[in-house]
Amino acid sequence: MTFIEAIKQRRSVRTFDTNKLTAEDVQKLKDFLPEATNPYGIPVEYQLLDAKEHGLSSPVITGTDTYIAGKLARVPHAEEAFGYSFERIVLYAWSIGIGTTWIAGTMNRKAFENAMNLSENEVMPCVSPLGYEAKKMSFRETMMRKGVKADSRMAFEELFYENSFETPLSKEKAGKLALPLELVRLAPSAVNKQPWRCVLKDGIVHFYEKKSKGYEAADGWDLQKIDIGIAMCHFALGASECGFKAGFSVNDPGLALPENVAYIASCALTEA
Ligand SMILES: Cc1cc2nc3c(=O)[nH]c(=O)nc-3n(C[C@H](O)[C@H](O)[C@H](O)COP(=O)(O)O)c2cc1C
Repeated sequence: MTFIEAIKQRRSVRTFDTNKLTAEDVQKLKDFLPEATNPYGIPVEYQLLDAKEHGLSSPVITGTDTYIAGKLARVPHAEEAFGYSFERIVLYAWSIGIGTTWIAGTMNRKAFENAMNLSENEVMPCVSPLGYEAKKMSFRETMMRKGVKADSRMAFEELFYENSFETPLSKEKAGKLALPLELVRLAPSAVNKQPWRCVLKDGIVHFYEKKSKGYEAADGWDLQKIDIGIAMCHFALGASECGFKAGFSVNDPGLALPENVAYIASCALTEA
């Protein structure tokens, strides 16, 4: 399965079939971890964790005792870097038949942080269960998906713009960028808020965050920047499978911004 197919098919899985991951699948995941890089070059350390051994739980997850968690230094751009890197694992897992759910909130966080031996200058942004999807979703999962309208996304023209935030970008106008941008549109985000916005200007795609209220902590940690990292990852994977190489930089073009919108990063594509 290609990453494009994985992005199109993936959904969060919260109800698992109680079967343990096979040794072969565990090995495949472990072998993939070094490929879960990010454009910021910030190292992320991952561990597969056994829920019973470490007393881990999530009230929304049933049918698996295996989790993956990641930690990294609390440095500028840690959120975007983590989003980008962890999403590579999520998509790879899906491509080999393993379900995941990004979890930032609904877990006993202290127990996970202890299991990861988190030190003071580190952060463990999110975890995910790992397992095989059950035939039927739990009632709770069905209700959760309805609650956040998990099966729908905003329209292309509401998310993407041309030259400035004044002019929506149509798929037709986006040309060769239409598919990578469509993959951004499909990305998962916390509470399905879809905070990514992109402006295409002079052949470069600039990524922005449209901040929702209540997602930035007092210490500056911003959960929605993880979502932007995920969006950047989808864009780069899509571009790469379309024959382009995505080069990210942080170089604010200084466009006039709507309220609560902040610049995050820019991406130039070259022929691979
Ligand atoms: C950064 C982040 C944090 C999330 N945190 C949680 C969480 O704590 N609990 C949960 O059940 N789902 C969580 N989700 C999953 C989202 O609710 C889900 O991705 C979104 O509703 C879209 O649904 P889909 O993943 O099935 O496409 C999180 C997703 C992201 C990207």
